[in-house]
Amino acid sequence: MIVLGIETSCDETACALVDANRQVLAEALLSQIDEHRPYLGVVPEIAARAHISHLDGLVRACMRQAGLDFDAIDAVAATAGPGLIGGVIVGLLTAKGIALATGKPLVAVNHLEGHALSPRLSHGLPFPYLLLLVSGGHCQLLVVEDVGRYRRLGTTIDDAVGEAFDKTAKLLGLGYPGGPAVERAAGTGRPGRFDLPRPMLGRPGADFSFSGLKTAVRQALAGLPAPSEQDRRDLAAAFQEAVADVLADRAANAIAIFRARHPGGRHLVLAGGVAANMRLRERLAEVARAGGLELIAPPPALCTDNAAMIAWAGLEHLRLGRRDGLDAPARARWPLDPTAPPAAFAGVKA
Ligand code: KG4
Ligand code: ZN
Repeated sequence: MIVLGIETSCDETACALVDANRQVLAEALLSQIDEHRPYLGVVPEIAARAHISHLDGLVRACMRQAGLDFDAIDAVAATAGPGLIGGVIVGLLTAKGIALATGKPLVAVNHLEGHALSPRLSHGLPFPYLLLLVSGGHCQLLVVEDVGRYRRLGTTIDDAVGEAFDKTAKLLGLGYPGGPAVERAAGTGRPGRFDLPRPMLGRPGADFSFSGLKTAVRQALAGLPAPSEQDRRDLAAAFQEAVADVLADRAANAIAIFRARHPGGRHLVLAGGVAANMRLRERLAEVARAGGLELIAPPPALCTDNAAMIAWAGLEHLRLGRRDGLDAPARARWPLDPTAPPAAFAGVKA
């Protein structure tokens, strides 16, 4: 079974071919970082236009790379949400066009499900497992019970963790994208010099909050008459350490809940763009070990947004006989666990 996957929900235009033996047969990805850099963030209109310009060519490149024509594929899977709606529409409509022209089935994939199932593509991981999804748009702890069965244990009540990294980088003048810039600066910073808050630390449950932390960085910076390079590095290090403490604390609570519900569960998976951060990986590996789990992190190219994970999620659904009609909607919001209660306070991100 071979599935063509398409991903356009944010600022990566991506296309991949994946088979049932967990092989990525071809992959083509175009990052729009340069186009968004002047604005220090993703501009939805620019993203949607860039997807339109590049997606056709990437699909062609992918088919050529694998040496396949459309007859050889079994389905087309595309991200149908959640994400920036203009981009989602471009990818989903392209997939529908291919499905209509070739007579192949369409699978409309939840982008978060792509992240959630990615360790099954990279590691062949068995269900159930606990997932910490940390990206520019999301910060969630989920129990992945089966294909299509996800239980959300916690989510952010304000900013996503990648968003907090990006905003902190902007405040500190470290450049874009923010996460790698903060990690680099933190590498030569002293984390103990600034005392930043740890929102939600010690509270029951597994919800997150990051906006107070970002505000504290702004205030600390404002308190310095003429911030030096070293001041910025020290603040970056303090910020990264505070994020690590919060993620570790929340993950420890989630591990306890997961172990109680699924005594046979063995793995904590770290996915999403922020999973590239080595300091966070280190801390979460410790927390997993202390809780009796092993930390699994898919390779970076499968952690950041990509189309292989979308093709794989489509394949998992297709194997179970699921497919979608050409009327499948594009959705800006699409929670993986519709039964999850809203997070503790206002400003909820699903
Ligand atoms: O998953 P992703 O590629 O896109 C989505 O948001 O879906 O994640 C991008 C996010 C950005 O906020 C970026 O700053 C963050 O991941 N990021 C990092 C690192 N590399 C990327 N955050 C912290 N440390 C990193 N090394
Ligand atoms: Zn993502």
